[in-house]
Order: sequence, then C-alpha cells, then structure tokens
Amino acid sequence: MLIKLPNMDYPGEKLLSLARAAREAAYAPYSGFRVGAALLTTRGLAYKGCNVENASFGLTVCAERVALFKAVSEGEREFAALAVTAGTVEYCLPCGACLQVLAEFNPQLTVLMGNSRGEYLERRVAELLPLAFRLSPVRNRD
Ligand code: THU
Repeated sequence: MLIKLPNMDYPGEKLLSLARAAREAAYAPYSGFRVGAALLTTRGLAYKGCNVENASFGLTVCAERVALFKAVSEGEREFAALAVTAGTVEYCLPCGACLQVLAEFNPQLTVLMGNSRGEYLERRVAELLPLAFRLSPVRNRD
C-alpha cells in the first residue's frame, strides 16, 4: 500500500522495512521480545525506535513511544503513519499506552502492524483506541 503524503506517496513496505531495521537495536534482555518501529512524518521523514527495557521492569519504554519521542524532541508534530514489528508470526499490535500517546498527535494515523511472514495489518489509531483520553481545556473545567 501507499501512504499518501502532501508532496509524495510513501510505500508502506519501506516503512515496515525500517521498522525491521530498528528492531536490530532493541534492548530486551528481560523479555527477549524485540520490537522495532518506524514513524513517518507528513513531510516524508522516518524516525526509528526500538523497545528499551530496564531491570526495574516498569521503566521499560516501547518501540513506538521511543520513535515518537525521538521525532517530537526534534520538533516534529505532524505524522502520517507508523510501522511496528516484533519479528513474530503474530502481528505486533501497539499497546494502549502507545496508542494514547500516538492519538495525542494524530488519531487518524495509519498503523501498519507487521509479522515475520512479511504480512501486515493496517488500521487507524482511532480504530485501535476509539475513545482515547482527552484533557478538557482548563477554561471548561468546573
Ligand atoms: N513492546 C513494545 O515495544 N511495543 C509493543 O507494541 C508491545 C510491547 C515491548 C515492551 C517490552 O520491552 C516487550 O515488548 C515485552 O512486553
């Protein structure tokens, strides 16, 4: 499939292959579950991320959020698509925490969830997390 961007079309397969490459750097000594993600900006730049685990397990950060935080910390705000894979036969679905963080920037973000057979599922963030939490503006709070 092609991801439609304002100035070009970007091949979904290319984003999935970047996610597979990102997985090489996964730091997952505790779970052994290595994940790679690639996040595409609307201007066609891709940011890679891998999961980074910690001996204090709850401090682990998923590949999707690593990719997003890398991009946002470089000033990016507009995203078109994310690819993620764990190199498993099952499709790798983003967890709820990552979906919430992705929804902050674009609920219509396309998510490509790959497996080890080169197949993928395609959904929007809003389909995977239809009722994302939203903070009401301060002026509307009582
Ligand atoms: N993980 C991700 O990086 N992304 C997901 O979508 C699901 C889970 C990581 C967190 C942890 O390092 C390992 O996979 C097992 O949960």
